[in-house]
Amino acid sequence: MKPKGLIALAPLLGVSHALNATALLEKYLGPDAPWYTDRIPVFETSIQSLEEVYYYRWSLFRAHQRDLGALGYISTEFINDVGWQTSPWAILINAANYHLREGRWARDRRFKEDYADTLFGPNTYPYQFSEVLADGVWQGYLVDGVLSDATARLEAMVSVYEGWSDETATGGVGGFDDSKGLYWIQPLDDATEYTISSIDASGGYDGFLGGEAFRPSINAYQFANAKAISALAALSGNEQLSATYAATAETLKNLTQTHLWNTTLIHFIDRFYVTNENVTYWDPIRGRELVGYVPWTHDLPDDSAAYASAWTHILDANELAGSHGLRTNEPSYEFYMRQYRYEGSSPECQWNGPAWPYQITQVLTALANVLDHYPVSSAAGVISKKDYNALLAQYAELHYNPSYGGILNLEEDYNADTGVPIVGLARSPHYFHSGFVDQVISGFVGVRPAAEDVLDVNPLADDVAYFRLQDVLYHGHNVSIQWDADGSRYAAQGLRVEVDGEVVARSDKLTRLSVDITRVDPPAINRPLAKSIQLALDSGFPAGNVSVSGAEAADIHDVIDGRVWFYPEIKNWWDTPVGSGESVWYEVDFGSETEVSRGEIAFAVHAGSNVDVPGEYRVEYLDGTEWVGVEVEGDGYAEAVRNGITDVAWAAVNTQKVRLVFTPKEGVKVRLVEFKLF
Ligand SMILES: *[C@@H]1O[C@H](CO)[C@@H](O)[C@H](O)[C@H]1NC(C)=O
Ligand SMILES: *[C@@H]1O[C@H](CO)[C@@H](O)[C@H](O)[C@H]1NC(C)=O
Ligand SMILES: *[C@@H]1O[C@H](CO)[C@@H](O)[C@H](O)[C@H]1NC(C)=O
Ligand SMILES: *[C@@H]1O[C@H](CO)[C@@H](O)[C@H](O)[C@H]1NC(C)=O
Ligand SMILES: *[C@@H]1O[C@H](CO)[C@@H](O)[C@H](O)[C@H]1NC(C)=O
Ligand SMILES: *[C@@H]1O[C@H](CO)[C@@H](O)[C@H](O)[C@H]1NC(C)=O
Repeated sequence: MKPKGLIALAPLLGVSHALNATALLEKYLGPDAPWYTDRIPVFETSIQSLEEVYYYRWSLFRAHQRDLGALGYISTEFINDVGWQTSPWAILINAANYHLREGRWARDRRFKEDYADTLFGPNTYPYQFSEVLADGVWQGYLVDGVLSDATARLEAMVSVYEGWSDETATGGVGGFDDSKGLYWIQPLDDATEYTISSIDASGGYDGFLGGEAFRPSINAYQFANAKAISALAALSGNEQLSATYAATAETLKNLTQTHLWNTTLIHFIDRFYVTNENVTYWDPIRGRELVGYVPWTHDLPDDSAAYASAWTHILDANELAGSHGLRTNEPSYEFYMRQYRYEGSSPECQWNGPAWPYQITQVLTALANVLDHYPVSSAAGVISKKDYNALLAQYAELHYNPSYGGILNLEEDYNADTGVPIVGLARSPHYFHSGFVDQVISGFVGVRPAAEDVLDVNPLADDVAYFRLQDVLYHGHNVSIQWDADGSRYAAQGLRVEVDGEVVARSDKLTRLSVDITRVDPPAINRPLAKSIQLALDSGFPAGNVSVSGAEAADIHDVIDGRVWFYPEIKNWWDTPVGSGESVWYEVDFGSETEVSRGEIAFAVHAGSNVDVPGEYRVEYLDGTEWVGVEVEGDGYAEAVRNGITDVAWAAVNTQKVRLVFTPKEGVKVRLVEFKLF
């Protein structure tokens, strides 16, 4: 349990030094800043890369919010469609825990709540990959404190959990071995093709499929899910269910420690489930992998000096420490970094060495747990806050992509010794398969969310001149954390915790501060329903159309596909012809009379692409057989926004079709990303 640190009951004297949220959001998010206003906590720090990547990661979060219309929002992994997603929604569940843990810091709870509804609803296949969904919901509850939203999913959580013991449910790619009491999985279905187990099971020949193994990952995931179910069951008064899952978690913890901890390698490693001519059931794999830290991501291991010694490996340049990122396994492995798989001549994903944001995220969370609440392990002297800060800084640097001239553009994996992306396929830019915001807030700044009525802040930041995190919505309150090493930034030396604008705890050092906090309801979720969304091409109504002949159907569909991003690296738009004085339109046909009163238009303007917003635009609706201009509210049409949302509201009309009409400027195209109608 958490030690309950210091002090401070009554508000202390002191005026808070509020950041100018508008200025920060405009600086980093440009004309799209209004989307983020009041939706995200603002943050600044003297460590420039952390600050820049923090906002980039929120832009990534925003870009991956896919509006499914009536089904609400989900978070996507690849920014655009890939063949192995669950269609037409574009769901891939293996990164859902990160999506939920990032989303829990959005002040707008809609994103994580809508997503959890989908994840535990009928449109997802929960055994698509190993999953930590119940834990993801629990982690969200720790921040927002809204119990009813979390417990509403309890029954579904139990059902998904139990399915992992049923090979007809998992399709035989994972399961539970009664004789060992542990879960096994095919590495591909653990999101990690080409690991030691799958490569060695093939005799070094391949490793995309096969290599089923008892892995530290899936057993830690199920441990976390069992704990989440147990905790939520207790909070909803179901003591029996709570006790059952607490015991399940305890047994899994014990068996993971007993069987997957390897005293020779001093690490949690896989054991083979598969037996074939190359490998044998229950044999340990022959090397260390980064996945061996996942037990700490979910607080599984006991706090002991023996287990703590595993943390030496990520500091050793001959083991898991690359100079630009953590390696997924070690150079001593015979098939380390051997490239097996290509798309054409371009390397495909493999986890036999490359640095991988997915697991770096897990390791940072794991290490934050160790430094926060593993006193024996922390005192063992193996790893420290200094190492945490170095790893976080190294991870931040990985976001600056040398294949794209150093801009912020996170891809799938990297050479751990150079920081150069390995997989840079058409699908790869701005990949959301990891976390970062959560590491900054719960690790670096140290907001440790809790089920109790307590606000616990334990910064892992070390040797930093200043930071301020402002307006985290925690248990219904606005929470801000500020550090100023010498008082020169905020005119107040030290660490301060503010609740609803009042300083409630402070220290002159970076140390844990804990305060009691009452729980209040956060603002109700606002769920405007977009009526224009069409998830898949050629799927009936709503349907898009344009006035221009020869346009690609896929481009037309992009405009109503529920996805909005302004990154130029991946297409998500329809380009009009070059302006020649003629007006063009984009039309949404609902298929039947539909009430609409508002639109959100996303125009992109990318340097070097010969595009610009139109000088003027208007919205029309079909009234009988006649196109009529809508009656715009307020001061008429606002100026079109470049790389942001242009809002239009009008007196509601009932119609089957709506058009956006405009004339591209002379000599340039208009790039229409999305036309949403409400
Ligand atoms: C905050 O920044 C905005 C945009 O830079 C500026 O217009 C505004 O005056 C600033 N507000 C304050 C209180 O300084
Ligand atoms: C075992 O290894 C050999 C040598 O690489 C390979 O040809 C064979 O396919 C492997 N067996 C299996 C079941 O993968
Ligand atoms: C597992 O549980 C048994 C029985 O309670 C206990 O003796 C043993 O120390 C535990 N082992 C580990 C590694 O936790
Ligand atoms: C740990 O794993 C290595 C590599 O597979 C193996 O040689 C060793 O016997 C294992 N150690 C124990 C104590 O099982
Ligand atoms: C909390 O922060 C939000 C966003 O910055 C602000 O709109 C709201 O007024 C704040 N509420 C309180 C009680 O300070
Ligand atoms: C789409 O618009 C074109 C005019 O550009 C028109 O000829 C065509 O009939 C429309 N298609 C549908 C399905 O309405």
